[in-house]
Amino acid sequence: MSPPAPGSMNHDSIIEDSEVRIGYTYEEYQQTADWLLTNTEHRPTVAIVCGSGLGALAETLKDQVVFPYSEIPNFPHSTVPGHAGRLIFGNLNGKPCVCMQGRFHFYEGYPLWKVTFPIRVFRLIGVETVILTNAAGGLNQDYKVGDVMVIMDHINMPGFAGHNPLSGPNEERFGTRFPPMSDAYDKDLRKLALAVGRELGFSDKMREGIYCSLGGPNFETIAECRMLNSLGADAVGMSTVPEVIVARHCGLRVLAMSLITNKAVMDYDSEATASHEEVLQAGKDSAKFMEKLVAVLLKRIEPNNNVF
Ligand code: HPA
Repeated sequence: MSPPAPGSMNHDSIIEDSEVRIGYTYEEYQQTADWLLTNTEHRPTVAIVCGSGLGALAETLKDQVVFPYSEIPNFPHSTVPGHAGRLIFGNLNGKPCVCMQGRFHFYEGYPLWKVTFPIRVFRLIGVETVILTNAAGGLNQDYKVGDVMVIMDHINMPGFAGHNPLSGPNEERFGTRFPPMSDAYDKDLRKLALAVGRELGFSDKMREGIYCSLGGPNFETIAECRMLNSLGADAVGMSTVPEVIVARHCGLRVLAMSLITNKAVMDYDSEATASHEEVLQAGKDSAKFMEKLVAVLLKRIEPNNNVF
C-alpha cells in the first residue's frame, strides 16, 4: 500500500483526533477527593485560591497538612514563578480551610477544564465557599497600586471566543447545562469584605468593581486597555473567571478580590510598562493587608450561607 499523501488524514489519525480528551470524568474528580479525604483529617468548608504574589497567606495556616500538586492524583502542576504549587489544609483564625498556593492559567497551555479541576474537587470534599484572590492591573483611573477591588461582576473575554470551562458534555452531577452568572459574586460576602476592610482601617484602599479576564500571557496594549475601560472594566487580569464559572456551576458561593498591582498603561506619552516583577513586588508589599483581610473574613463566614 502506498503511504498517504502529505497532509492527508488516514483512518487511524481520525480516531486519534476524536480521542483527544476534553475533560475529566466524574470518577477522576471523585478519586482525587477521596484521596485527599483519606490523607487529611481536615474537613474545610472554605477554600482559598491565592493569586500571584499572594501565596504567603497559605503559610499562616496552623496545623498544616501540605500536599505538593505533583503528589495529588490527577492534579495539574503550576509552572508560574510566584505560584508555589501546593495544596495546604489547616486552620486560619481558628477556621478550617484549604488553600491553593498557586493556581493554573490558560496561558500555561492548560485547557480550562484542567485550570478549574481543583474547584470541583473542593465541592466533593465538602467546601461551600471559595475565596479567590488575584493580581490585576487597574484600568479605573481612580485606582492606586495596593488597592483591593472586591469583584462585583466580570467580563469574560476568552468566553466570547468560545473558551469556556463548561464547554463539552455537561456533568449534571455538578450542575445544570446553562447556569446563570448574573449572581456570580455573592452580595453578602461582598458587603462583608468591604465592611471588614473598613473595620481594619483601610477604607481608602477598598474598592468594588468589574474584573475583565483575558487569556494572557502578554500584558495589554494601550488601545486594549482603553477599550476595556470604555466597556466598563475597572481591572484586568489573566485568571479567576474560569474558576468562578465552575464554582457557580456546582453551587459554591464565591468571593473574589483583586489586588491592584499596577496601573494599566492608558496613555501614549507614558514611559511605564507592566512587568511580572512589579506584580510580585506589589503582592509582597500588600500581602500583610490581604492576609489580615482574608483571616478576619474567614472567621465571619458561617456554614449554611450565613455571614456575621
Ligand atoms: N494585566 C493583566 N494581568 C495582570 C496585570 C495587568 O496589567 N497586572 C497583574 N495581572
